[in-house]
Amino acid sequence: MLSIKHIDAFYGDVQVLFDINAEIREGELISIIGPNSAGKTTLLNSILGLVRVAKHGKESGIFFNSTDLTSMRTEKIIAQGIAIVPEGARVFPDMSVYDNLYLGGYTRKDRTEETMEEVFDVFPRLKERLTQQAKTLSGGERQMLCIGRALMSKPRLIVFDEPSLGLQPSIVLQIFDVIKRIHENGVTILLVEQNVYHTLTITERTYVLEHGRIIIEGKSSALIGDDYVKRTYLAI
Ligand SMILES: Nc1ncnc2c1ncn2[C@@H]1O[C@H](COP(=O)(O)OP(=O)(O)OP(=O)(O)O)[C@@H](O)[C@H]1O
Ligand SMILES: [Mg+2]
Repeated sequence: MLSIKHIDAFYGDVQVLFDINAEIREGELISIIGPNSAGKTTLLNSILGLVRVAKHGKESGIFFNSTDLTSMRTEKIIAQGIAIVPEGARVFPDMSVYDNLYLGGYTRKDRTEETMEEVFDVFPRLKERLTQQAKTLSGGERQMLCIGRALMSKPRLIVFDEPSLGLQPSIVLQIFDVIKRIHENGVTILLVEQNVYHTLTITERTYVLEHGRIIIEGKSSALIGDDYVKRTYLAI
C-alpha cells in the first residue's frame, strides 16, 4: 500500500533522513521506533509532503498504491486516503469538539453525521462533550479528539505520531486499545512511538530509526527478544 524507496529528506541544506526504505502492506499495523531527533516525525512529514524529499534515481519515491506522492501537494496526498494524528494531540483549540470533528471530514462531505456516529462508538466521551471548546479538554480527551478527527476522513491509512506521549498509564492503555480496534476495522496503520514495549506487543512489524537511518527491521515479536532492542529501548 505504501512503499518508501530510497528517499532522503532535508530541512534547508541539512539532511535528516538517509536512504530510507520501508513498506506497509494493506491491512498491516506497523511501527517506527527510535530516540528523540532520530527523524521519525520527519519521515511522517515526508509521506505527507511537508518536507523536502530527494530521490535516488527513477525507482525511488514514496508510492501509495503505485501513485508517487513525492511531488504532490499535501491536500492531494490526504485526499488519497491518508490521515495523520500529529505529535502533541494538536487540535483547533478555540473550536468545539463538534467543529473539530466536522473539519476532519471535509474531504468526505457526504455522510458526515453517520461517520461521526462511528467515531462516537469508539469514543463515547466525545459525544458527551460536543459543544465544549477543544482547549478545555483533558490531555487524554484531546488525543481522542485528534484520533476521532482523523477517522472522520474515513482514511485507508492512518499515521500516528507518538499518540501516547504525556498521557497517564491508564489512558495510554486505552489509546493502544483504540489503535488495535481501528486496525481490526480494516484501517492500515503506521505508528510512531517511544512507548516501545506496548508498541512491540500490538504491532506486526517494526522499523528502528536512529540518526536518520533505518538500522533494524523485523517482526515486532522477534524484536522484543532482541538483545540490542532490549538494552536500548526496553531497559532490560
Ligand atoms: N523544521 C525544522 N527545521 C530544521 N530542522 C528540523 C526541523 N524539524 C526537525 N528538525 C531536525 O530534524 C531532526 C529530526 O527531527 P524529528 O522531529 O524528525 O525527530 P523525531 O524522531 O520525531 O524526534 P522526537 O522523538 O523528539 O519527536 C532533528 O535534529 C531536528 O532538530
Ligand atoms: Mg517526533
